[in-house]
This record gives sequence, C-alpha cells and structure tokens, in this order.
Amino acid sequence: MLARMPPARDPASADSRPVATRRVWRIARAGSLSRLRLIEEPLPPPAEGEVQVAVQAVGLNFADVFACLGLYSATPRGAFVPGLESAGVVTAVGPGETRWRPGDAVMVLTRFGGYATALNASRDTLWPMPSGWDYAAAAAYPVQALTAWYGLVALGGARRDAIVLVQSAAGGVGLQALAALRSLGARPVAIVGREEKRRFLIERHGLPPAAVLLRDRHYAASLDAALAHYGAPGFDLVFDAVYGAAFTPAFERLAPEGRYVLYGAAEFMDTGARPNPLRLAWRYLRRPRPDPLAMISVNRGLLAFNLIWLWGEVQRLPAAMRSTLELIPEPPHVGAAFAFDDAPQAMRVLQAGGTTGKVILRC
Ligand SMILES: NC(=O)c1ccc[n+]([C@@H]2O[C@H](COP(=O)([O-])OP(=O)(O)OC[C@H]3O[C@@H](n4cnc5c(N)ncnc54)[C@H](OP(=O)(O)O)[C@@H]3O)[C@@H](O)[C@H]2O)c1
Repeated sequence: MLARMPPARDPASADSRPVATRRVWRIARAGSLSRLRLIEEPLPPPAEGEVQVAVQAVGLNFADVFACLGLYSATPRGAFVPGLESAGVVTAVGPGETRWRPGDAVMVLTRFGGYATALNASRDTLWPMPSGWDYAAAAAYPVQALTAWYGLVALGGARRDAIVLVQSAAGGVGLQALAALRSLGARPVAIVGREEKRRFLIERHGLPPAAVLLRDRHYAASLDAALAHYGAPGFDLVFDAVYGAAFTPAFERLAPEGRYVLYGAAEFMDTGARPNPLRLAWRYLRRPRPDPLAMISVNRGLLAFNLIWLWGEVQRLPAAMRSTLELIPEPPHVGAAFAFDDAPQAMRVLQAGGTTGKVILRC
C-alpha cells in the first residue's frame, strides 16, 4: 500500500520540531470572502491516530471559494477553516503511531482545515511526498489529480483512443485530466474560456490547435469541427465542471455508450466577494435538465460526483491515490504562488477564472 512506502525525508530541511501555535484563515460563517480572518491560535499535540504537520504549502481549489461563498453543499455550518490539501513535514505523532515519524515529508488531505501553517491530520489521509518533488508540487497534487483519475477512469471508463472532451482544460483539474489522458493514450478535445489559455495549451502542452477550443458563441460548431478532425461520430466521454450553457451542446454530441461526467458548476460563480442571489437564482432556474428517458433511446449516460465523498471512504483512499500516482506520475503545473498571508487575494484570483494550473500558498 502506498501509505506504507518509506516516506521521503524532509527535502528542504524544514523545521521538524513540534509546533505549539499556528496561524489559520478562519471564516466566521460562509457568505463572503471578506469574512476571512487570519488568526493565531494554540495547536494541541496530536491525539491518537493523528500526525502533526508543519505546513510548507497549501493547495487552493475552486471549491474553497464556493465553500466560503456558501455555495458548496459540504460546507460546515458556522465557523470553519477552508482548505482540502497541503504539504509539509511531520513534526510530532500521536500515541502509538508507527507509520509516520518526525521529518517525513508528506502530502495531506483534509476535509476543510487546510489553510493553516500547522495542523493535526488523520494518519490515514497523509501520503509520502514523491521523491524529487517540492512542497508546492506536493500541495498542488492530491485533490485535482484524484479528481481527474476518479472522474475519467473510475467513473468515466476512459481508455486508449477514446475522444474525451475536457472543460476548463487549462485549470488545475483540467491539466491533470490532460496528463491522465496522455498516459492512457486517449484523444482530448480541450475547452477553455480565454484565448490566452488556448495558446498556453497549444504552445506549452503541445495540443493540436484543432483540438483546443474556446467556449464562445461558436462553441457548438467548434465541437463539430474537432470531432471531424478526429473523424469521430461523437465524444466517448465528456468531463465537465462548468455546466450551464456549455452542457447541452456537448451532451448532444456524445457517441452511443458515451458518458457525461459532471463534477461542478463553475458557471454559477460570480466575480464579487459575495454571490448575487438574483443572478444565482436566474442561472439555477435556467440550468439544463437532461431527460433520463431520452437517454435510453440514444444510449448515453450522465454521472456526477463530489470527490469529498471519498474522504469518508478512508479505506479506499490508499488504492485511489496509488492508481492516481500510477496514472499521473509527474508533478503538477503550479501556475501561481502567493504568500500564506495573501490567501484571500489568491482566492480572488482563482475565482476570476483566469488562472492556469494550480494556485498555491507558501507558508
Ligand atoms: N466534484 C468534485 O469533487 C470536484 C473536485 C475538484 C474540482 N471540482 C470542480 O472542478 C472545477 C475545476 O476546479 P479547479 O480547482 O481545478 O479550478 P480551475 O479549473 O483552476 O479554475 C476554475 C475554472 O472554471 C472556469 N470557469 C467557468 N465559468 C466560470 C466562472 N463563471 N467564473 C470563474 N471561472 C469559471 C475557468 O476556466 P475556463 O474559463 O477556461 O473554463 C476557471 O479557470 C471547479 O468547478 C471545481 O468546483 C469538483
């Protein structure tokens, strides 16, 4: 099992002495990013089953913004610290712990609580940092790579030569999805919202221009042109976390036996610090509602998932992470790094929809 592999030792000689205080970004209640406060607080020694980690880098996810705005169903009630992943060095272990020891460099999954300079995490949601990686890459990896593996392979059944549409292909999950498809030998059609991201995918990731499309008013015609480029009748798989107006043109172009894997609704995101309820209600009421009966006659399927569900299936996580690392062994592309103290600014940049790859905080 991956979690029993010998962990990498701290690669950057981070301090591995136990930590007694930490700083966290806490929000008193969801609703607005402006409610985030940087707080210093004591950190108790790790309890049984816990491992203390001095965090060196925190991975940001679009879900963190949704959670702080109150648009994420898994958001805790009341005050919480956002953050689903980080990387750092083990500084102390709970009573009886034998798997981890101070000095181990680790990747950490948390069900919230990740925006912290130190934390006590469950011993079961840590992984050894792959050798040769730095903390930024390690903090950038778990959520987005697991999402790509789970959506494309575990649910989507992606395989060699499959034609796969990837929405937001230059984003954090998107680049991991492209890496996974490269590994599988599948053929991606990448969709992005801005021309500069299109150029980034062609110039930096070597995708053929005919297979990198803008989600603009020519979107439907561009999908047809990309399918013609591959000589394919339709998409074998669509991997989409945008939803909204982009959904139906892609859904209608699924090949028979094609699967549409929906895992988010970025189109519901507003650019303001707090959501606009009227605009949100309007988008919600106008959302696409595919008819399951109509799917029978055309042999197409729709699947949806929230990865955070897997946090509760802790016994499945080691195998899931092992499969993910086999499929996507390269360190991810970190597109932007901010200081820990600038977390709200980093979240606003992510929220604005212009970032490529992963956004991280350095502690
Ligand atoms: N279900 C799950 O378990 C799960 C897990 C991880 C992530 N997700 C979802 O997957 C998506 C990607 O996550 P990520 O963390 O890797 O983020 P990301 O792709 O780095 O950033 C989100 C992207 O969404 C696109 N977008 C579309 N409409 C938008 C709008 N109205 N405002 C802002 N951005 C908009 C933008 O790219 P383009 O304009 O280029 O499309 C933006 O860059 C998110 O929707 C996230 O919620 C779901």
